[in-house]
Amino acid sequence: MTEQMRETADIIGRDEINDMEAILSVVNTDVDEERHGVHSVYDTIFTWDYAKGQRPKLEKLYEKAKKTQWNGQTDLPWETEVDQEQLVVANAVANGGLGEGLDVSGTSLERWGDKEWIEFGVESQNWTLSQFMHGEQGALVCTAKIVESVPWIDAKYYAATQVMDEARHVEVFAKYLDDKLSGHYPINAHLRLLLDDIIADSRWDMTYLGMQIMVEGLALAAFGFMHQMTTEPLLKQLLRYVMSDEARHVAFGVLSLQEYYQQLSAAEIRERQEFAFEAAVRMRDRFLQQEVWARMGVNPKEIVPLLMQVPDRQVFQSLLFSKIVPNCKKLGLLDAADGWLRVKFTELGVISFEDWADTGEEYDALQATPASGAVA
Ligand SMILES: [Fe+2]
Ligand SMILES: [Fe+2]
Repeated sequence: MTEQMRETADIIGRDEINDMEAILSVVNTDVDEERHGVHSVYDTIFTWDYAKGQRPKLEKLYEKAKKTQWNGQTDLPWETEVDQEQLVVANAVANGGLGEGLDVSGTSLERWGDKEWIEFGVESQNWTLSQFMHGEQGALVCTAKIVESVPWIDAKYYAATQVMDEARHVEVFAKYLDDKLSGHYPINAHLRLLLDDIIADSRWDMTYLGMQIMVEGLALAAFGFMHQMTTEPLLKQLLRYVMSDEARHVAFGVLSLQEYYQQLSAAEIRERQEFAFEAAVRMRDRFLQQEVWARMGVNPKEIVPLLMQVPDRQVFQSLLFSKIVPNCKKLGLLDAADGWLRVKFTELGVISFEDWADTGEEYDALQATPASGAVA
């Protein structure tokens, strides 16, 4: 290793990826803040080369995006009634109970009955949708930044459609939370650290890597998982439309970076590998739902380590990476620098997805629009 190569602790703030004590000590201390500023210095790039279609795959994506816009206000069945407690029970019947496989003897959950588990399920819905909403705002601002900073006209055009998509995603998640659920959660500290890092980076391709490849790659998998698991028809349809957009967004990242990475040096690629690793760890840490346990009056440090031992939980955690790993492989990030990222993804337990479908072309299969009727 050369001197400029950073150690794990420099990248993620701890030596051991699975140091649960360290992970759960990262908490949001600004829960009442109304605004959050992130400083970023970067060049806004004008291009005087307006020739459209120099990058045919991006042009195709742009044309597709124009035709598949939907209206979050009018294309979803907002009249659907949602009873959160009933939904927790229905989802548990369909997919298995919340505490299943978790040995709580000797912990403060020992006395929990149905009432507490249902309350936990309701809080968990509020938390999950809140984090989706915050992540969508991250995508909105990141993609607006790409419009400014990317030098290619086809990419500026496409990114402009994504900005509209993301506004709609923030809108529908916020509306779902306000109209159908029972409370918001502030942004999770791990997610905020990641969004701050993506926004603060001055290099336009790092915005793409952090947002389109990592955050949106994970979102696509998480939305897909929830779409499959939920028994609530409005949420199912909402997620299906959002997934249709997200698949295009991830494809935008893969197609743009594939070209750009060809001109980078080995040292520059290594930096991208480190950034991908940092993002992967932050996103995995954010899914521990530590704020939900805290709100239920349970110390997350008591329960989360136990939860991590449950086999179903491990499967869910790793499935979140089912899009990210093949996309990183397609970009050459897994095997550059003697397979540095491959080793890290192996430590994270997600390398098995490397040969799953990448998202470069997958967006056609995931397409769903009100006009096509291909929903739910
Ligand atoms: Fe989105
Ligand atoms: Fe997106």
